[in-house]
Amino acid sequence: MTDYLTGFGNSFATEAVPGALPVGRNSPQKPAFGLYAEQLSGTAFTAPRHENRRSWLYRLRPSASHAAFAPYASAFDAPPRSEPLAPNRLRWSKAKRESGADFVDGLAPMLGNGAPDRLEGCSVHLYAASRDMERRVLFDADGELLLIPQEGRLELLTELGRLEVAPGSIALIPRGVRFRVMLSDGAASGYVAENYGAPFRLPELGPIGANGLANARDFETPVASFEDRDERFELVQKYGGRLWRTTLDHSPLDVVGWHGNLAPCRYDLARFNTIGTVSFDHPDPSIFTVLTSPSDTPGRANCDFVIFPPRWVVAEDSFRPPWFHRNLMSEVMGLIHGAYDAKADGFEPGGLSLHNRMSAHGPDLDSWRSASEAELKPHKIDGTMAFMVESCWPFEPTAAALASAQLAYDGAWAAFPKAVLP
Ligand SMILES: [Fe+2]
Repeated sequence: MTDYLTGFGNSFATEAVPGALPVGRNSPQKPAFGLYAEQLSGTAFTAPRHENRRSWLYRLRPSASHAAFAPYASAFDAPPRSEPLAPNRLRWSKAKRESGADFVDGLAPMLGNGAPDRLEGCSVHLYAASRDMERRVLFDADGELLLIPQEGRLELLTELGRLEVAPGSIALIPRGVRFRVMLSDGAASGYVAENYGAPFRLPELGPIGANGLANARDFETPVASFEDRDERFELVQKYGGRLWRTTLDHSPLDVVGWHGNLAPCRYDLARFNTIGTVSFDHPDPSIFTVLTSPSDTPGRANCDFVIFPPRWVVAEDSFRPPWFHRNLMSEVMGLIHGAYDAKADGFEPGGLSLHNRMSAHGPDLDSWRSASEAELKPHKIDGTMAFMVESCWPFEPTAAALASAQLAYDGAWAAFPKAVLP
């Protein structure tokens, strides 16, 4: 059992050994026990107070003690596509992935936009792992990582503590935080959203009021825990879109105490307070936003994480599933379990779809037909959890992703009957 501290973006203080945290200052001349004080900043020092994210870590050795990083061969090395990207709708079935990989080697980049070096954009990767990261630790200098397990529980041993994350929950690991992924069920697969831009935060609630959607208290941050292991460890980092490696003679998960508001957390999607219409029309899906990374333009997200959870649908005289639409924003969808109400066929758990800027999409023929003819009594959509990673920048599939897309996805909208005028 791990203890957790509750709240989103709170200023926490936690120590695995009593007395590890200094009192009344961050960097005393002689920290307790000879620990090293280190500040980890997720925003510029001068970011406004409400945007500023940083934590102070008190560790057995300074993070700076390491040799040079060298390239680490991975799927991130694939050359960029040479052809212009056609503005096509794309969809992927759950991939059968070869076993034997740990989380690092089991990462498959699929879709991305923006650029980590410009601090904007986001990517979506898949992971499939059947081996623990044993003496290996990863961190991402390019962005924060939103882990979305689809199968298999994860145990995340991070610098700031230990997180248990099961399918149906998500974990958010800030840029730069080192972690190791252990597989509680021996194997695991799922999705990763990598956010290069402003850190995820809870969306504004506007007229909804002071409560609703994802409530801050349901986010859980681990208490401090650490490893004291003088063994050879490999440290892998993602930097500039690629992986790099170095070795250490100790575990870098050696933070004995920390305080601050930059920390990993987990969130159970079942706790999302879903809000929808009680009169007519499906609301815009922004009503389902869990976390948002704003861009420099108000209201236009660099990256939104949105879910389609179980919910009652009661709308009168309405087409109840998501409607047909074309949109400035570009949408990546995944499915954790169950069925998505706008697709009767071809979008299975573990799958992925892409609808880029202005792509016309919406319910497929069978979903449209059944929703158009359904008796409009109150109905519960249950046993499902779909999600969307939405961005104001179109996503480019990797060459490997393009090669593995479903054929004939356009067929989902091929046979709609023509309207009949009087
Ligand atoms: Fe859409």
